[in-house]
Amino acid sequence: MDSIFILTGAGISAESGLGTFRDKDGLWTRYDLRRVATPEGFRADPALVHDFYNMRRRNCLEAAPNAAHEALARLQRQRPGGVTLVTQNVDDLHERAGSPEVIHMHGELLGALCAACGHRWRAPERMAPDDPCPACARSATRPDIVWFGEIPYRMDEILERLSRATLFAVIGSSGEVYPAAGFVEEAAARGIATIEINLEPGSRKDLFDRGLYGPASETVPRWVEGLLQA
Ligand code: OAD
Repeated sequence: MDSIFILTGAGISAESGLGTFRDKDGLWTRYDLRRVATPEGFRADPALVHDFYNMRRRNCLEAAPNAAHEALARLQRQRPGGVTLVTQNVDDLHERAGSPEVIHMHGELLGALCAACGHRWRAPERMAPDDPCPACARSATRPDIVWFGEIPYRMDEILERLSRATLFAVIGSSGEVYPAAGFVEEAAARGIATIEINLEPGSRKDLFDRGLYGPASETVPRWVEGLLQA
């Protein structure tokens, strides 16, 4: 039986109403990522950065998982220990769909992090620069989000799990942001079968063995049913 490694991106949450980054009208066409998604941007204007993530947190709390999130949760539950789910998404829609284990390599909108002492806690709906850390009381509160120029979370564990996979799937990601964008090359070099599941073929489609194209709410349940029947 396959050991499956799944990497999801913003496209899986698009039909839940959460915007992607690089599509037409995507977040990075409307916001300057250097101002809202870098440590330098946060140092320059923490209130602006908190407002950006407060807005995204509110949108996330109002959204609901779709059939693609639900299908992946079903796959994980029916193949205990056989599916690694890594997401670049900072929403919690995989968890709310029932996924038993999700690795958030780019952090979580519902998390707060103290830049002074490293303490983590559940973010309130609105965060502000003066919020004190519940552990050390200093005002160094930031969203628990990995910004550009920072190292994604749990990379050693992610690469170790990828090395043990027999099937690698990318769902709803443009493959523009490293290190996640490099996972397909890592998988191919190890002889792991690869599949791209996306609205349309991405710029790196030739790196994948197979492609499945269309809205994630349709393609992902179909793909999961095929795996469960195999
Ligand atoms: P992108 O916005 O770069 O790519 C989203 C992908 O989803 C595109 O290839 C779309 O074609 C596809 N897509 C859109 N709607 C879809 C649908 N209904 N079904 C299936 N696919 C669909 O988002 P990511 O690749 O996730 O990082 O972006 C990677 C990282 O860049 C994010 O985690 C974020 C961002 O900057 C940080 O903020 C650190």
